[in-house]
Formats: sequence, structure tokens, C-alpha cells
Amino acid sequence: MQKLQGILLAIESSCDDTSAAIVRNDIILSNIVHSQLVHSRYGGVIPEVASRAHQDFIIPVVSQAMEQAGVSVDNIDAVAVTQGPGLLGSLLVGISFAKGLAQARGIPLIGVNHMLAHIHAHFIATQKPQFPFLCLTVSGGHTQLVLLTDYFSYQVLGQTIDDAAGEAFDKAAKMLHLPYPGGPLIDKYSQNGDSSRFLFPFPSVGGYNYSFSGIKTAILYFLQKETQQQPAFIENNLPHLCASIQAHIVAVLLRKLKKAAIDYRVKDIGIAGGVSANSHLREEFKQLGIKHGWKTWIPAFDYCTDNAAMIAKTAWLHWERGQFTDYNLEAKPRFPLI
Ligand code: KG4
Ligand code: ZN
Repeated sequence: MQKLQGILLAIESSCDDTSAAIVRNDIILSNIVHSQLVHSRYGGVIPEVASRAHQDFIIPVVSQAMEQAGVSVDNIDAVAVTQGPGLLGSLLVGISFAKGLAQARGIPLIGVNHMLAHIHAHFIATQKPQFPFLCLTVSGGHTQLVLLTDYFSYQVLGQTIDDAAGEAFDKAAKMLHLPYPGGPLIDKYSQNGDSSRFLFPFPSVGGYNYSFSGIKTAILYFLQKETQQQPAFIENNLPHLCASIQAHIVAVLLRKLKKAAIDYRVKDIGIAGGVSANSHLREEFKQLGIKHGWKTWIPAFDYCTDNAAMIAKTAWLHWERGQFTDYNLEAKPRFPLI
């Protein structure tokens, strides 16, 4: 394949992070992420508030990404943007910006699937996984087990039939009176907790699929029962509750990952998405890999949660293949990996 050279600007605005990155000849030169803190007071992402915040931050974030990379708008050869999945209003801010810039400069536009980009984050580093590559993508909106035989050839082996793992972390945190996003706080408080203090049921969903809504309900009922008897139960047991909930979600996640790795005889295995920043998941996954002789791939923290560097990586792979998108690209709030 004749490889194209070039400088690409990538934009990510699918949820509550406004991000821009510059990639030149497959090297990430900058990756600026502005995380919207405004949602913590509401206990979750408010779509209308998120799109307004993207409007406020898109220009400063893009300017900073270009400045840090030492490129001007005239140097950009293509504009890439997250097409979906995500919140419609949030996606539209990034897409409108990207379309406007690409059309005004007469340069190509590249629409990127956010879920594929989470997986491609593994290929940013110089050490890259080999195909076949099995990846568990765990974020606030998705939980998917994907088997890739090449960058754009893949099979979704399983996914959640209800809530995502990140949602389970965030909702459990809310029940423990922790602010949004609660996943990182559960991780933090777990450091001083006993993970075997409280036990929760395993979902009975078949194949490689996941389910987290039953776990959420089990935690809710358990907390209701305990606080009826002891009103300060949560405050008195916070680290143990966090550690037990975290260990349970991680055990559920790794059980199916292990099954898929064994059934499909895959040796290169990764975790991706916001929840892959979880310290217990990272450690347990690493240990599981050592036990089974797998090559385990864990992204750098900056590339776990939403970021434009991963969008830039996927965009670069499209660019190399001459795969561009029409200027009338549409937002796809449900852009499934199928
Ligand atoms: O990939 P991401 O940034 O956004 C989506 O595409 O959803 O993932 C965000 C999710 C949130 O649910 C957040 O609580 C979770 O990732 N998360 C964590 C940790 N860091 C982020 N969950 C558990 N432990 C963490 N350290
Ligand atoms: Zn994401």
C-alpha cells in the first residue's frame, strides 16, 4: 500500500469530554482533553448541558492542540471527527466544527467510530498488539468483547444486554453518595477496603454477553436493608463497600473475557475504554494474562477515557487507505460495531 503523508486534526465530542489531537505521519503530536466538570453537581451527564459546554470549549481546545503540535490551520491535510456512538447534541458540535473547517479549506473529512477508536488506542504506542487481537472495551456507555483479525475486520463476540460496566460503577457510586463520575472514586476508596467483605450475585446471561442491571439492583436492595438497621452503614463501611463492588464488577468482566480468549485461542488480549483505567481491573487482567500465557495490552491512562488521540489513530488508518467521508456526514448516536 502506498502510504500517504500528512497532518490530521482529530476532534472528539461524543459525551462530556471536548478533545482535539494532531497526528502527523502516524505520530500523535498533541492530545488536549477538556473534561466537563459541570455534570458532577447533577449526578450524571445532562445532554443539553454537555452540548453547550462543547460549544464553549471546542475552539480553545482545537487552538491549544494546534499550538502544542506547532501547526497552523493552513498545515492541516484532513479533519477527522467522532461520528458516533454518543449523545446527539454533543456529536453535532464536533461534527459541525469539522465539516465547516474541512469544507472551508477544501480538505478531506474522516468520520470515525468511537468504539473502534477505543480499541485502536492500543496501536498508538510503538509496541503494538498482533492480530488476532481480543479487546474488552468497557466505558460509561458500552461493554463489548471484540475479536479483530485486522484494523477494520472484526467480530463483536458479546456485549451488555442492558447497562454498561461504567454505568454500574457510576450508579453504585451514586448509591454510596459519591459524586459523578463515581468510577474513579470507587477505585480510590477501594485501596483501603476488604474486597471480600460483601458478596453480590453473578448475572446468568449466556455466551459472551454481559448484564449489569441485576447487580445494580442487588446493590440497591442490599444498601436499603443494611441502612434500615444501621443508618450510618454506608459511611462506616465505605472502603469495604467500594472494594467489594469493584471486585465484583471486575470478576464479572474478566470471566467472559477469559472464556472468549480460551474458546478462540487468542494470545493478544487488551482492555480499553474509561473503565480500563480501573486499577483493580488492570492488575487482575495482568495476573490473568500471566497465568494463561497471554500478551496483555493495557492503554496508557490518557488513552483510556475519551480522548482525540484515539480518534486521530483511527483516522490515520482510514487516511492511509484513502477512506474519506462525504461533507454531508451525519451524526450517528447509535453507531454499532457489528
Ligand atoms: O470511555 P469513557 O471516558 O466515556 C465513555 O465513552 O463512556 O468512560 C467513562 C466511564 C465512566 O463510567 C467512569 O466512571 C469510568 O469510565 N471510569 C472508571 C475509572 N475511570 C473512569 N471506572 C472505574 N475505575 C476507574 N478508575
Ligand atoms: Zn468512550
